[in-house]
Amino acid sequence: MNIILLGPPGAGKGTQAELLIAKYNIPHISTGDMFRAAIKEGTSLGVEAKGYMDQGQLVPDEVVIGIVKERLQKEDTQKGFLLDGFPRTVSQAEALEKILAEMERKITVTINIEVDSDILLRRLTGRRVCRNCAAVYHIETKKSKIEGVCDHCGGEVYQRTDDTPETVSNRLDVYKKQTEPLIDYYAKKGLLATFKGDAGIQVLFANICETIESKQ
Ligand code: AP5
Ligand code: MG
Repeated sequence: MNIILLGPPGAGKGTQAELLIAKYNIPHISTGDMFRAAIKEGTSLGVEAKGYMDQGQLVPDEVVIGIVKERLQKEDTQKGFLLDGFPRTVSQAEALEKILAEMERKITVTINIEVDSDILLRRLTGRRVCRNCAAVYHIETKKSKIEGVCDHCGGEVYQRTDDTPETVSNRLDVYKKQTEPLIDYYAKKGLLATFKGDAGIQVLFANICETIESKQ
């Protein structure tokens, strides 16, 4: 079960990933979460990534591809994996294909989540995330039980520095130019399943699971 989650910033990739990894017991490989962890640890990767992320720009392909390759080679991906936020450019998608071919693996399905931009803006500016386990919340629609404290791990719930209206608008532009072409890319390979992301979280989850199970 080798799954890609594709969709604009705020589509609900991280939210669905939390549910999918719990149900299917596969690792969640989120390049955004990996960069945020590196920033928290103060590594050189974190310093480099932060400059791009705070502008809403993509981290260069060669940096991202390197960390994903290393991550995919870990033992826990044997039973499958859930990629969230990678690939994000056609060259990342081509690199992924090469990495998987070397491992004699293939993508099972690419789950594409579609949501209108006005909804995305509201979701992102109201989003909060756990600094420790990356659980996703929203100030109106998905509050943590205690404000500022993660329900799952007790970590600090904070606002991402790239969730300001100006950076969100850049991220949406970057998505349109650099990532949206992947919809066609995976459709042509017969690997795309598209979902309306404005359904409720649980409805969307049920629809995605149905598709994943039909590919088994
Ligand atoms: P990344 O962390 O991947 O961010 P993103 O793709 O912009 O996506 P988001 O995490 O913002 O949104 P999401 O779809 O996960 O939505 P969520 O579930 O949180 O990347 C950040 C940055 O890192 C990039 O800008 C780039 O700089 C860099 N980067 C990362 N990967 C890279 C790569 N491969 N190449 C180059 N650079 C890379 O939900 C959002 C909100 O909506 C939440 O509040 C949630 O509660 C709410 N919500 C979710 N689903 C629903 C629903 N169905 N109904 C109502 N509300 C919902
Ligand atoms: Mg996310």
